[in-house]
Amino acid sequence: MPSDTISAGSAVDVPAGDQEPQVELIGVRKEFGGGVVAVQSADLTVADGELFAILGPSGSGKTTVLRMIAGFEQPTAGTIRLGGADVTARPARHRDVNTVFQEYALFP
Ligand SMILES: Nc1ncnc2c1ncn2[C@@H]1O[C@H](COP(=O)(O)OP(=O)(O)OP(=O)(O)O)[C@@H](O)[C@H]1O
Ligand SMILES: [Mg+2]
Repeated sequence: MPSDTISAGSAVDVPAGDQEPQVELIGVRKEFGGGVVAVQSADLTVADGELFAILGPSGSGKTTVLRMIAGFEQPTAGTIRLGGADVTARPARHRDVNTVFQEYALFP
């Protein structure tokens, strides 16, 4: 995700505590076949109770980021943590996270 096409940030001020972030992406990259780089290098931290929005034009990688957090896509590089645990290699059904899709879909 090119950094000049995405605005990501906290909508709500959350006091910095000593809690683990609920969602953490570290250097997450996703390449599809044919040389498509959907997400270049995403770093983000979402605290417990924080409302977090990702804004960007069509094709900038928003859905791909959500699919990697859910476990429906495997990152090409980087680390995804949920509740402090590294879930990068963990299948979707073993992740404590839910996704509301734009269009209804069956869980794979
Ligand atoms: N399964 C796939 N195979 C190949 N390319 C893909 C795949 N999924 C997404 N892409 C490509 O990755 C890039 C990012 O797509 P993505 O759907 O994540 O964007 P988006 O920000 O969610 O767009 P929109 O606002 O239209 O929903 C696009 O170039 C898209 O064509
Ligand atoms: Mg999308």
